Amino acid sequence: MERQPQSLLLCALIFISFFALLHLIEAQDQQGFISLDCGLSPNELPYNDPLTGLTYSTDDGFVQSGKTGKIQKEFEAIFSKPALKLRYFPDGVRNCYTVNVTQGTNYLIKAVFVYGNYDGLNNYPSFDLYLGPNLWSTVDMNGRANGTIEEIIHKTTSNTLQVCLVKTGTSTPMINTLELRPLNKNTYNTQSGSLKYFFRYYFSTSGRNIRYPNDVNDRKWYPFFDSKEWTEVTTDLNVNTSNGYQLPQIVMSSASTPISTFAPWNFTWLLPSSTTQFYIYLHFAEIQTLRSLDTREFNVTLNGKLAYARYSPRTLAMETIFYSTPQQCEGGKCILELKKTPKSTLPPLVNALELFTVIDFPQLETNQDDVVAIKGIQNTYGLSRISWQGDPCVPKQFLWDGLNCQSADISTPPTITFLNLSSSHLTGIIAPHIQNLIHLQELDLSDNNLTGGVPEFLATMKSLLVINLSGNNLNGSVPQTLLQKKGLKLSLEGNSNLICPDGLCVNKAGNGSSKKTSVVIPVAASVAFVVVLGSALAFFFVFKKKNTSNSEVTLGSSSYTQVSDDRTTRSSEPAIVTKNRRFTYSEVVTMTNNFERVLGKGGFGMVYHGTVNGNEQVAVKMLSHSSSQGYKEFKAEVELLLRVHHKNLVGLVGYCDEGENLALIYEYMANGDLREHMSGKRGGSILNWETRLKIVVESAQGLEYLHNGCKPPMVHRDVKTTNILLNEHFQAKLADFGLSRSFPIEGETHVSTVVAGTPGYLDPEYYRTNWLNEKSDVYSFGIVLLEIITNQPVINQSRERAHIAEWVGVMLTKGDIKNIMDPKLYGDYDNGSVWRAVELAMSCLNPSSSRRPTMSQVVIELNECLANENSRGGTSQNMNSQSSIDVSMNFDIETTPGAR
Ligand SMILES: *[C@@H]1O[C@H](CO)[C@@H](O)[C@H](O)[C@H]1NC(C)=O
Ligand SMILES: *[C@@H]1O[C@H](CO)[C@@H](O)[C@H](O)[C@H]1NC(C)=O
Ligand SMILES: *[C@@H]1O[C@H](CO)[C@@H](O)[C@H](O)[C@H]1NC(C)=O
Ligand SMILES: *[C@@H]1O[C@H](CO)[C@@H](O)[C@H](O)[C@H]1NC(C)=O
Ligand SMILES: *[C@@H]1O[C@H](CO)[C@@H](O)[C@H](O)[C@H]1NC(C)=O
Ligand SMILES: *[C@@H]1O[C@H](CO)[C@@H](O)[C@H](O)[C@H]1NC(C)=O
Ligand SMILES: *[C@@H]1O[C@H](CO)[C@@H](O)[C@H](O)[C@H]1NC(C)=O
Ligand SMILES: *[C@@H]1O[C@H](CO)[C@@H](O)[C@H](O)[C@H]1NC(C)=O
Repeated sequence: MERQPQSLLLCALIFISFFALLHLIEAQDQQGFISLDCGLSPNELPYNDPLTGLTYSTDDGFVQSGKTGKIQKEFEAIFSKPALKLRYFPDGVRNCYTVNVTQGTNYLIKAVFVYGNYDGLNNYPSFDLYLGPNLWSTVDMNGRANGTIEEIIHKTTSNTLQVCLVKTGTSTPMINTLELRPLNKNTYNTQSGSLKYFFRYYFSTSGRNIRYPNDVNDRKWYPFFDSKEWTEVTTDLNVNTSNGYQLPQIVMSSASTPISTFAPWNFTWLLPSSTTQFYIYLHFAEIQTLRSLDTREFNVTLNGKLAYARYSPRTLAMETIFYSTPQQCEGGKCILELKKTPKSTLPPLVNALELFTVIDFPQLETNQDDVVAIKGIQNTYGLSRISWQGDPCVPKQFLWDGLNCQSADISTPPTITFLNLSSSHLTGIIAPHIQNLIHLQELDLSDNNLTGGVPEFLATMKSLLVINLSGNNLNGSVPQTLLQKKGLKLSLEGNSNLICPDGLCVNKAGNGSSKKTSVVIPVAASVAFVVVLGSALAFFFVFKKKNTSNSEVTLGSSSYTQVSDDRTTRSSEPAIVTKNRRFTYSEVVTMTNNFERVLGKGGFGMVYHGTVNGNEQVAVKMLSHSSSQGYKEFKAEVELLLRVHHKNLVGLVGYCDEGENLALIYEYMANGDLREHMSGKRGGSILNWETRLKIVVESAQGLEYLHNGCKPPMVHRDVKTTNILLNEHFQAKLADFGLSRSFPIEGETHVSTVVAGTPGYLDPEYYRTNWLNEKSDVYSFGIVLLEIITNQPVINQSRERAHIAEWVGVMLTKGDIKNIMDPKLYGDYDNGSVWRAVELAMSCLNPSSSRRPTMSQVVIELNECLANENSRGGTSQNMNSQSSIDVSMNFDIETTPGAR
């Protein structure tokens, strides 16, 4: 009586723990399983399939596209519940499921396809099935009223897996269930490739298919038995199946042996071809109770070749024999034989057999970080583009639109290099996920409704060199780091609330600004002259390609843009006296009145005032004797300079070449150089904005002529405000192009020379590469533009940023353009024309020479600036310009220390 409650309690305990255990096993068993009932409504709760006990849930959330359907009633009876509903994909070519998996794990992946005339068309579809970027199988459902199953064992290469249905004809891809089962480590390993199911048998007369829950991995075992040749062996005892492959007890508790003890056990199959590679897995356990003298031992051969010698199955413990390398069979015909050895008293025995063909997946998936990033971007903006499914880059025919990718070959993961989400109705901020696309080279987010700031991370993306953010609603200021990034092409126009320096936000020009000017070189400080004339540096030039033909002389009237300004067109320049005018030394003495009036002094000699033809003023540069060793070069340079005639280039009137006396005779520039006028050193009123513009237009024309009007083209190499001279009518002419060198036009586009030029004006790219081209002059000209805008020294160590371009860049980010404008202009300028000039200057200063405008473009742009300024109402600028000229003209040319 007393024991009853105790045993009850005991029972209860057992009961509870039994159920707890059951629950535990079940929970563990399905761990990692993904069982999708495709087409199941997201509102429907996951359910347990009555046949297997597997828990199926909706595919909603694993796929972004497709429609749901249901097989027709008449077919329902032959299928289990998960197969009754389906998802079909009428839109797009590739539609993909994306499943979270564990990277580096072998998964058994099964997809079930049952047509069931769901669409009433009675048209069995056929389409391709992809695993990530690789073709898995072609699903041809014709004649498959019972449906088809595709099964594969595949090791995941990342933590997501994509199963894609690809339309190949007119029929619509569809799918009923998708199942993934993680397998044990160290099972079903291959040398390469994945395992495509070929067959999986267990040798039994039971006629029962076995799968989950009997098989913890949900492999499906089909019974097979050749009753004519074999007898069945079974056991009620437990078989230890824990060898990793973990076959079901039911599978391992039966086996086949040949009826005749002496006969071999054989099994044949036919593969698609001789080259079909396969893996075979043979599962053994001795389930017969052996008498003491009994032995079972046999050789395993495949097509006559020994696979395993003298094998004895272990008693009630499972063992698996497999090849570690893929096998092939002659003609695709395979014969597996188990042959007993003479020693063996019992015939061979085998419990189960699996066969897989090898399927190669050579195409690697897109770099996973890129995939995560692009999906993050997709989610951030809620992009539901039909092509944005599956692997972003591969296969190429399914590349997501708006992307471009790169990869060395198929065994290198592709990377995303280009993202174009232009006009995609994007709203919100610039997605931080973008920074994880570290291989991105070009980003186009133009014409969206993006708000917020321009993120700093864009500057830290190493490969990113083209960014188009134009046509958005971005605000705040553009990060300095971005503006300073070398070689970056940044477009920001059309963001009206964005604060950015050089007009990037306003106008069309897309060239990034450049403040990378840390490459200033400490060459000898330049000496400023009243009139800086041809430099004796000419002595050291070596002309490789000297054009001596006189017939090729080009006159400089054809290739520049005429400015419609009275003072420009009113020809006041001195006529060229004669071509190749050669003076004797005594003539030089006479013209300078015995070197009476010094205009300036340079490192290579003195410059004197002179007069020729009675009233024509000239500047005579005497070359010091020590320099005359480069006589040949001098001659060559003279010949070259005598050919160059342009109203905006200081003309060489003639030269003297008599013994040790060498002189260059230039036209006289009464109003000195631009720098003096900017600095106020010449006194009088400051140059107004219009006059400044006119001067730079003219200088640009001179430069443009050197680049395009001369054959061979010439690079000035020393463009700066002290080399822009003004004649008595304030007409600007470029001087000192004696530094320039003509350079070959055929083939090369640059000449490598010794770096020369003036600190602050020197093209950093030229300095770095020593490659000279016209764009080096464009850079220097950009500095000149900044000078006329700001009237700041090019280099000023006491300034926040020493170099003018850096300083302008910083100042512009702090506020509006007034911060940088020369205060002496008192705001008397057209804002539009100033912005254009700033923008132009910044584009000239692009660190990458190829992104700078040409001088022809500069001339056009400056003329438009000038037109803007001229169209401005009011008369003040005319008055100013007039007074400026008047005042200047009243000044004598006597400011150089040491003169007279
Ligand atoms: C996959 O994992 C990611 C993050 O790890 C998660 O955001 C996402 O919801 C998961 N997807 C599914 C279908 O579970
Ligand atoms: C479908 O399966 C049934 C038995 O399950 C079989 O009798 C029938 O032949 C199969 N139909 C086809 C087309 O394979
Ligand atoms: C089953 O076999 C494995 C080795 O094959 C062994 O480690 C394990 O202890 C065995 N389990 C039982 C219950 O005998
Ligand atoms: C398989 O074995 C039987 C005897 O058990 C034999 O008659 C038959 O020829 C064998 N088949 C092959 C293909 O070797
Ligand atoms: C089994 O393999 C061994 C080792 O190669 C060989 O010596 C023996 O002859 C083979 N026996 C049979 C019956 O094939
Ligand atoms: C981005 O795509 C748009 C069309 O959607 C196209 O107009 C634009 O040129 C593309 N941008 C680039 C940089 O190719
Ligand atoms: C941006 O958004 C505003 C309203 O939020 C809308 O009126 C406008 O059309 C949008 N512009 C673009 C280019 O999508
Ligand atoms: C940036 O995008 C706009 C609009 O798509 C386009 O007009 C502009 O040319 C683009 N800028 C560059 C530099 O490609």
